[in-house]
Amino acid sequence: MNHGKLIGIGVGPGNPEYLTLKAIKTLKKVPVICSPRSAKSRPSVALSIVASSLEDRDTAYELLDPVFPMIEDQEALHDYWDEAARDVKKRLEKGLDVAFITLGDPTVYSTFSYLQKKIGTDKFKVEIIPGVTSFTGCAASANLSLGEKDEIIVIIPKVDQRLSQILELADTAVIMKTSRHSKELEDIIASDKRDKEIISVQNCGMIDETIVKGFVQDKKYLSTTIVKFQ
Ligand SMILES: C[S@@+](CC[C@H](N)C(=O)[O-])C[C@H]1O[C@@H](n2cnc3c(N)ncnc32)[C@H](O)[C@@H]1O
Repeated sequence: MNHGKLIGIGVGPGNPEYLTLKAIKTLKKVPVICSPRSAKSRPSVALSIVASSLEDRDTAYELLDPVFPMIEDQEALHDYWDEAARDVKKRLEKGLDVAFITLGDPTVYSTFSYLQKKIGTDKFKVEIIPGVTSFTGCAASANLSLGEKDEIIVIIPKVDQRLSQILELADTAVIMKTSRHSKELEDIIASDKRDKEIISVQNCGMIDETIVKGFVQDKKYLSTTIVKFQ
């Protein structure tokens, strides 16, 4: 029997209308959907984005919703990923395709790549369906161009000691997970003496989307800050 295929689907940052036609077509027929969530008590954000596309499916599907907690402990994280990979592998070995849905795009800081590695892609076929990234979604919501001509756009996943050096060459900096380290980020950006425009977007594409000038102070995980240097 042929093995099933692992399909990574990017569902965009939040607005279901940002789903690609290919993502919708695949979601309507794939037999297994894997949609991780950060805690057992929390619904999956990615699943809520694709919910309307699943409503008029002709066939039933199986939902796998493993917990991928937001913790720093690498050993514990590997245990969670191993468990999810085992469940996905079982379906692939039965010849069933499995679609793993992920916020934004599967190739950008997504848990999809961890799962892909755990599963071992020498044995199973993998397909990636790209999605609108969170930062292009945020830029669109804020009516901002991220880059023109020879401007350099940098994408920063974490605020740490590398940031000041990276910013020296950047014309635009996209900083993810900004609510986790807002004070440190504010200090580093303030130490850059160029004029700048700072916009933060939270829950982009969702009903409670907020766009603010400057930095965010609350702890919402889906927070992105865009800094344009002049
Ligand atoms: C693990 S990364 C996922 C990135 C995603 N794969 C992508 O293509 O954009 C999570 C970070 O993406 C950003 N993000 C994702 N969705 C967002 C949204 N709807 N609004 C604002 N930021 C978002 C936030 O900075 C969040 O902390």
